[in-house]
Amino acid sequence: MVETILWTDAGVVMIDQRYLPHKQEYVTCRTYLEMVDAIKTMVIRGAPAIGVAGAMGVALGVQEGADFDTVCDTLAATRPTAVNLSWGVERMRRLRATLNGHDILPRMIAEAKLIREEDIAICQAIGRHGADLVVDGKTVLTHCNAGALATAGYGTALGVIRAAVSAGKKIDVFADETRPFLQGARLTAWELQQDGIPTTVITDNMAGYFMKKGQIGCVVVGADRIAANGDVANKIGTYSVAVLAKENGVPFYVAAPVSTFDLNMASGDKIEIEQRPHREVTHVFDAHITPVDIGIQNPAFDVTPNRYVTAIICENGVARAPYETSLRALAGC
Ligand code: MRU
Repeated sequence: MVETILWTDAGVVMIDQRYLPHKQEYVTCRTYLEMVDAIKTMVIRGAPAIGVAGAMGVALGVQEGADFDTVCDTLAATRPTAVNLSWGVERMRRLRATLNGHDILPRMIAEAKLIREEDIAICQAIGRHGADLVVDGKTVLTHCNAGALATAGYGTALGVIRAAVSAGKKIDVFADETRPFLQGARLTAWELQQDGIPTTVITDNMAGYFMKKGQIGCVVVGADRIAANGDVANKIGTYSVAVLAKENGVPFYVAAPVSTFDLNMASGDKIEIEQRPHREVTHVFDAHITPVDIGIQNPAFDVTPNRYVTAIICENGVARAPYETSLRALAGC
């Protein structure tokens, strides 16, 4: 499976997700500001992956002797919607506060590496819990990329699919292409093809057609932030898929680590939605597809109300409504 992000002596090495699947290139960040740029420009993306990147970015900042609070604040503010980024940075900040001058850099590097390793184990646990929900012989629809590339490895939604396949279930995947950044067409399709899992790419507006024909067994997606009441922020278009799923009686599952839960946020109404550059909509790679000077909107995420969510799968088990109690129970608070 692909290595999404690695700490090395030369810096933090990441596969460049802007150009997959056609170019397999790697970017090395040696400073925290290079990491800020890599997160902002989507060299690395996906909530758990940017949590790891944020933590490694903090370690880079310590290594270069930059002002610690500036490093943490700048990294945490790079992308606002996925709570994992600030979660990773805050974990590093808490550790730093316990260190009184000794071995600071090695401890910070070790913590960032640990966050990465833990994320892989967490994804595998999510996969084990979620695999039981996937029905043998059916098609799973997913949106965006919640796979190895969006995490330190294995994936959340794709972790569920991988675990179901490993358990011997015969399933195939429909991947929404996920305009405008094409995480589904480029990244999910590439990852699953490498694993030999039968995958079909559909454009985002085809999901309802296939659900109505009874061809989708369930939907499994990842999440960027889950509020205490179970409202789910995820890639733009997720809400439409969830509404279509309910209309067609298709179970809609969300797979995410506890670090994606934001239990201080009562509902999804207050989740900040990142607005991304217009160029992602006006262009596909270098091809300009819209008239010049046309109006453009590019919200990167939407919020799916909890009533559309059949269950939320995390590393500690499966939560169902009422989410106010089930999420807290699984988060251990
Ligand atoms: O803008 P992106 O590509 O970072 O958005 C990613 C998503 O919305 C994923 O579905 C989410 O982060 C879960 S990844 C395990």
